[in-house]
Amino acid sequence: MTDRDLSEQIKKVTMEIHTRAEKTELMMSFMRGQVTLAQYKLLLCSLYEVYQTLEEEMERNSNHPGVAPIYFPTELARLDAIAKDLEYFYGRDWREKIVVPAATKRYCHRLRQIGKENPVFLVAHAYTRYLGDLSGGQVLGRIAQKSMGLKSSEGLSFFAFPGVSNPTLFKQLYRSRMNSVELTEEERNGMLEEAVRAFELNIQVFDDLQKMLLTIPKQKLQTCSTQSVDTLQIPI
Ligand code: HEM
Repeated sequence: MTDRDLSEQIKKVTMEIHTRAEKTELMMSFMRGQVTLAQYKLLLCSLYEVYQTLEEEMERNSNHPGVAPIYFPTELARLDAIAKDLEYFYGRDWREKIVVPAATKRYCHRLRQIGKENPVFLVAHAYTRYLGDLSGGQVLGRIAQKSMGLKSSEGLSFFAFPGVSNPTLFKQLYRSRMNSVELTEEERNGMLEEAVRAFELNIQVFDDLQKMLLTIPKQKLQTCSTQSVDTLQIPI
């Protein structure tokens, strides 16, 4: 690793905003072991929209020289896992029940724009989500299971990466692939800016979700499809 490695530069430039993301109300709820079913379900809805867009744009650009090295659909794709979790919590008609805040739409809009106009910047977005999921996300999954009193790993597929047997090694490979992408100086600077923006977009989604929890009637949020979940008391 050298100072010129994109993986090092991106980590450095997002360090401060990573701490901000950790301190959002939603992430703090996870860390305190107090995440509620209502919070988690709303998060899953937004993640579904975000990953649908990200994975669509990644696939469409999978032959692009800037995207191909970090395109790992078998190992990383999250969309089907999230769909499974949504079906578990909302039932078979989960698609009709998805609710997302404006911030999620803005995030998706940016992903589409990048996919069309500057696909190489998808690296910054894929890094922010997938490496995050493979890092702190692993701890959050275990905490979520306990917090919500879920008996099995059902509803928690989002956190599981069956195609990645060793996350640490996989992250090393991912970073080396990021570093293999050829970038002009202008592109490199743009990439670093885009990574900070990707974190910012995530923070805005988390903050908007918290606001939604205050406005959506409790009954609506507590509609659940399974026995085990129905019997839970959900403090929101
Ligand atoms: C890395 C924790 C939220 C994105 C990490 C690492 C930890 C961590 C411990 C380092 C793992 C390692 O060095 O191997 C947490 C915790 C969070 C949280 C406790 C919330 C409570 C987030 C969020 C995002 C994110 C919301 C982005 C949306 C990342 C990324 C990395 C990372 C991209 C990889 C950094 C790198 O190695 O370049 N996180 N994180 N994290 N996290 Fe988070």
